[in-house]
Amino acid sequence: MRTVDLIHRKRDGEELAPEEITRLVSEYTGGSIPDYQMSAFLMATFFSGMTDKEVGAMVDAMRASGDFIDLSEVKGPKVDKHSTGGVGDKTSFICGPLAAAAGVKVPMISGRALGHSGGTLDKLEAIPGFRVDLPAEEFKKQLDTVGFAIIGQSPTVAPADGKLYSLRDATATVECIPLIAASIMAKKFAVTLDGLVLDVKVGNGAFMKRQVDARKLAQMMHTIARRADLRAQALITDMNQPLGFAVGNALEIMEVSQTLQNAGPIDLHRVSIELAARMIFLGRITPTLDDARDLAQAKLIDGSAYRKFKEVIQAQGGNPQVLDRFDLLPNASGAHEITSPRGGYISAIDAEYIGMASTLIGAGRDQKDDVIDPAVGVVLEVKVGQKVDAGAVLCRVYYTKEENLEDAAQLVEDAFRISTAPPEGRELILEVVG
Ligand code: URA
Repeated sequence: MRTVDLIHRKRDGEELAPEEITRLVSEYTGGSIPDYQMSAFLMATFFSGMTDKEVGAMVDAMRASGDFIDLSEVKGPKVDKHSTGGVGDKTSFICGPLAAAAGVKVPMISGRALGHSGGTLDKLEAIPGFRVDLPAEEFKKQLDTVGFAIIGQSPTVAPADGKLYSLRDATATVECIPLIAASIMAKKFAVTLDGLVLDVKVGNGAFMKRQVDARKLAQMMHTIARRADLRAQALITDMNQPLGFAVGNALEIMEVSQTLQNAGPIDLHRVSIELAARMIFLGRITPTLDDARDLAQAKLIDGSAYRKFKEVIQAQGGNPQVLDRFDLLPNASGAHEITSPRGGYISAIDAEYIGMASTLIGAGRDQKDDVIDPAVGVVLEVKVGQKVDAGAVLCRVYYTKEENLEDAAQLVEDAFRISTAPPEGRELILEVVG
């Protein structure tokens, strides 16, 4: 069967056989299927979707494109957490250390910035010297000794995801339920896991704008996990405004430090504790979820999660002092204030606009080979529901180059809605699947 025939059949809504999907993925990864044909296949999938069987084959093929890291020798329950992508989403650096401090082993395989959303690996690389490319043996050793290690998709870990991820980013095929599910689960299956917590974001700053789609994505990933005998839970969480105040790589690390010292924003604290609790519970460290919540909170208050993150930074080549001394992190050279045109209540902050603005000034990538500027981003001064006076500072745009600043500032300004009446409160954790 020629590649063009597979694209044709997918375009027309037919189900492809598992071996056909396997062939597509392995030949694309090997370089014998060109980007233009894979792009067409991705777009056909975007419109036609995939059956559970096809997604299963896609996950297996993408996972098998690299090595499997066997962690069975590492003692303790191994539980990872993955988010579907948001703006200001830095929970991994809080729930990971919390769970590790509670006795869970956290082998985290993370991603890079995609579309307007930030990437865990890019945020970590804002810490000078931090290495996200640990060889398997070092990853294993760190997991054993520190309890938490983070690496990315690489030439040996799910390389098909690396190629497809960039291609999706460049072909407007990111927001596709089966492609997101396959991308995430292929990375998760690259290591031995006992549990998996998924944070499925929904709202204007997420790839899923509607709760019904977020639920479908959560259910799809949950089903894939269950078929592999992996205990999994998916939380559907609100992404209708950035999480916390900081958006941008180094800026987010600073906010992580504050949150790990129990002085972070309420929403970030709440989601991180809930994710950590689910990791602890799935890892069977505590008999009940309530006990797990208490344990997560205790590990925050006694500073052990903060110390755990420092250990991770040290082990992966960074200077742990960056969490105490923000001058050791890359810092922007200028700050542009956005002020409120009138008094009233903040009724909305479009997270996608904030994410796009940050990308424009260099916090994300426009083209796959673009170099990230770790210092830049946006720091909110207000959150939805807050009352402001005319002229109050809504946020600051931190930049190092003036290029694109005007367009970014306009986007940020457009992100804010001010109303005369306070908006209705919104739940942060909307649903649990699994
Ligand atoms: N995170 C991933 O790893 N892949 C996606 O496609 C989206 C979010």
